[in-house]
Parts: sequence; C-alpha cells; structure tokens
Amino acid sequence: MNRTKKRILSGIQPSGHLHLGNYFGMMSKMIEHQDQDDLYCFIADYHALTVHPDPKILSSNIYNAICDFIALGLNPDETTFWVQSDVPEVTELAWILSSYTNLGLMDRSTTYKDKISKGIKPNMGLYSYPILMAADILLYNSSLVPVGKDQKQHIEIARDIANKFNANYGDVFILPEPVIEEKTKLIPGTDGQKMSKSYNNTIPIFGDEDIIRKNVMSIKTDTTPIDKPKNKDTTLFYLYCLFANEREKLLLSKKYDGPGLRYGDVKLELFQKIMDYFAPYREKRALLHSKPEYIKDILSTGAEKAKVIASQTLDKVRASIGLGIGNEL
Ligand code: TRP
Repeated sequence: MNRTKKRILSGIQPSGHLHLGNYFGMMSKMIEHQDQDDLYCFIADYHALTVHPDPKILSSNIYNAICDFIALGLNPDETTFWVQSDVPEVTELAWILSSYTNLGLMDRSTTYKDKISKGIKPNMGLYSYPILMAADILLYNSSLVPVGKDQKQHIEIARDIANKFNANYGDVFILPEPVIEEKTKLIPGTDGQKMSKSYNNTIPIFGDEDIIRKNVMSIKTDTTPIDKPKNKDTTLFYLYCLFANEREKLLLSKKYDGPGLRYGDVKLELFQKIMDYFAPYREKRALLHSKPEYIKDILSTGAEKAKVIASQTLDKVRASIGLGIGNEL
C-alpha cells in the first residue's frame, strides 16, 4: 500500500434508500478522491443499531447501500470497501477510547442534543455514537474525513480524543481533519431542513420514479404571487443548481428575478434533471443487485484489507496503555 498517498475515510449508515443529501453531502466527493488518494469506505451498520431497526430491513438496507455505492462509481479495486461489523476490532477501540473520553466532551455533541429534542429516545449507543465514529477514524489512521457539515463536530471530537490520548501515551493516532466542500455544505430536504431520512424530507436516487416525482413536487415553496420576483435563497433554487450548468443557472436566476415564474415548472424540470443525471447509475445498480455472490466477494476482500490495518493499530494501542502482557515478554 502506498502510504505517501493521504488516507481518506468515510462511512455511511445503511438507513434505507440513498438520497440526494447522502450523494452530494459525501459520496460524490469521496468517489472523486479514489483516483489520487488511498480511499477507505465502509457501511456503518453498527451505527445504525441506535434506532433498533427491524433485522430483515437492516440487512436489506446494508445490501442496498453496498450496491448504491458501487453503482455510483466506487471502484472496489482501488478502494478498500467493507461493512463495519465485518471488522469488529472497531468496537474494542471504541471501548478503550470511551474510558479516555470525558463526559464533558460528549455532552457538547449537538447531534445528540438535536436528536433528543426531536423526541428520539436516548440510549447509550446514541450517546456514545461519536466515540464509535472516532474509533472508525482512528483505527484506520485516517488523515482526511469527507463528511456533511452536520458531522463536522464528530470529527472534532475524534481529534480531541486522539490528541488527549497521544499526549498521554505517545504518538499513537494520526489527527484527522474534516473535508467539507463549499458546494456540498448541507443539502436541504423538501421541507428546507437538512435532508435526512429521520425528517422524512428526502429525494431518493434509486427509488421508484413516481416517488421521486412526488417528493420533488412536494418541495416547500413560498406564496409569492406569480407576477412578483422570487427569492433565490430557497430549497428549490438550491437543488436545481446542483444539477444545472452555468448557463442554466443564469437562465433560472433571471426567471426568478422577473415576474411569471411558476414553481411547478421548475420542479418538473428539476425532476427531469434528476432522472437524467442518475439514469446510467440506476441501470448499473439494478445489475449489481442481482449478483449477490459478486458483492460478497468484494466485501470479504475489503474486510480482509481493513483488518490488517485495524490489527496493527490495536496492537499499538494495547501496548501503549499496558493491556495484555505483550510488553513484558
Ligand atoms: N456518522 C456518519 C453519518 O451518519 C457515518 C459514519 C460512521 C462516519 N462512522 C464514520 C462518517 C466515520 C465518517 C467517518 O453520516
């Protein structure tokens, strides 16, 4: 493995059908990295347990997420790609890290507070979610972590944990940095909040065409009368721009500035753009989905590669804190 290349790592939860927020928030950027960098990418199935998914649904979501990633361009020959729970070493590191993490740091987690305020019943998994995420990042010696803006604090927590650990036990961990592209900051959902399955405001990528149309048509717009200029700092305009070239953006911008624009027309155009953009990926995805043996092979190769690094890091961590008797022999 060429360690002069920077290692980039990211994970995605298998939370059902992939949506535009996942794609533009993280996946597309990540896939762009795979040619130049040493890309590590996994399906975060342990993280998915905090909401107690139905077992059958969880395993089908994991399978779907794998097909989604490969269909969208992740190349398993270049990238180390695995399912998180196939390398359970990460839970050992998470346990170790949790003993070295102050409650104060965890209490600052805004994602946790946000979830609680939305009425999600807290459990320990949800609370220590950032520690498992730190373990993912630190176990694989990752330098860069491309994530959506809402996950930035988690990378800072991982960095804090690593820093404190290193200060006490030597240079064990590489300090990770988040990669957040300007364009991909936070993708709004149909209601204007962050696009997320838990807010029920997503536009799926591989879903049924009718559902994609229905969800695009449900994008919340304001009640500005048709003969008045419209506000461009809005969800519909933003989503349209993700798929438009410069000329198209300019054209739409002019229409927003003048009278006569109908939101319904923009929505239909956006729907068509989404379908065109993802058409080749949809085809590839359908093919992959029908080849479980091929998928299994990819994952076992990925998990094997990931395990090599995971064991090396864990040996180093164990030795540094005095676990086992390895140092005395
Ligand atoms: N928490 C991330 C999300 O929900 C998924 C994730 C788990 C992750 N472990 C990670 C992302 C490590 C980056 C690095 O989107």
